[in-house]
Amino acid sequence: MADRAWTTVNPAGARRVVVTKELPGERWLALLAAADCRVEIAQGDEVIGEAELRAAIGDHCDAVIGQLTEGWSAEVLGALRAAGGAVYSQYAVGYDNVDVAAATRLHLPVGNTPGVLTETTAETAVALTFAAARRIAEGDRMMRAGAYRGWLPSMLLGNLLYRGTLGIVGAGRIGAAYARMMVEGHKMDLVYYDVRDSEELETYVTEYAAFLTAHGEQPVTCRRAMALPELLVTCDVVSIHATLTPETRHLIGAPELAAMKEEAVLVNASRGPLVDEAALVAHCRAHSRFRAGLDVYEREPAMAPGLAELDNVVVVPHLGSATTWTREGMATLAAANVVAILQGWPVWHAVDGLEDALPFLEDERPPHAAPSIVNADALGLPRLVSQAQTKEDQQ
Ligand code: DGY
Repeated sequence: MADRAWTTVNPAGARRVVVTKELPGERWLALLAAADCRVEIAQGDEVIGEAELRAAIGDHCDAVIGQLTEGWSAEVLGALRAAGGAVYSQYAVGYDNVDVAAATRLHLPVGNTPGVLTETTAETAVALTFAAARRIAEGDRMMRAGAYRGWLPSMLLGNLLYRGTLGIVGAGRIGAAYARMMVEGHKMDLVYYDVRDSEELETYVTEYAAFLTAHGEQPVTCRRAMALPELLVTCDVVSIHATLTPETRHLIGAPELAAMKEEAVLVNASRGPLVDEAALVAHCRAHSRFRAGLDVYEREPAMAPGLAELDNVVVVPHLGSATTWTREGMATLAAANVVAILQGWPVWHAVDGLEDALPFLEDERPPHAAPSIVNADALGLPRLVSQAQTKEDQQ
């Protein structure tokens, strides 16, 4: 802690907001400064441990904007509450690193940033799918090594996905966006596994199928698998979009991998511990035509021993939401959550899609509401009834 540099923005601000990493863009800082916040930003790339988080919170702290790499345990959240903290705002949509139950017991709202990373993360999953299926990383390595000696009929043959069968595990916002991209773009049949029916996704695919039929093309299909093995045995691509909970940890392990097709592609751009990484290494080692595309790891930033040596696995460093627009948008939403709670504003209505976050990102006078508080209902926080309400507030 003593060695870490901090920068302070708006030092005269009356409310102290601690931000545990530099964030991209300017809008988020302008929002906090306009709400009379003094913003203290940690410098450096290394993850801040729990002891240092507590030290940074100190005796008085009104809010924190924190990272998915940090451990927001009951103790650290308790330290924030004891220091007068009114909100913990996560700079991510996922919050498995935050003890939300403890935060709720402490009456501490927890913010997150949905609505700006749906398409971005889905695109990353698409990129990984094709990088794995079409052996893009292997080809790149071959070129850089000077090993390409000219076109050959059997060099680096991969899998054609067009008209194949796609499986998604988790049909929430990102899973559904990825499914639409793959179904529409590559005319794949869809099988999804989720705890509930996704009527919206089924309707979307059914209407697309009708469009194909009307154009004299074979339609695509969509069905929900009632059990995971049912999806695993039939799909050419399996992409994971589930939330990490104690129940979903190692959702894909050795038996699930064994159930998949010999030449299947497994993609994970959600959370690493959903896949038993050691089992994946063993499976990929034994099945050279099986491929995987990974954005996330069980013990990030480390990879399981052996993973880096496998040619049939494409690995990238948790880039799911890594576009300038999205990361700046996440910063804006994280700051807007802090501002709204400090000002006593209500919570924005359920954020289902990109368009709902836009007023926070683009409006000159953003809504007087918190974009997303994950424990809003548990805390009984008021929700905004209509967007017009915030416009009135701003008169
Ligand atoms: C998230 O937001 O949860 C992603 O993993 C990082 O953007």
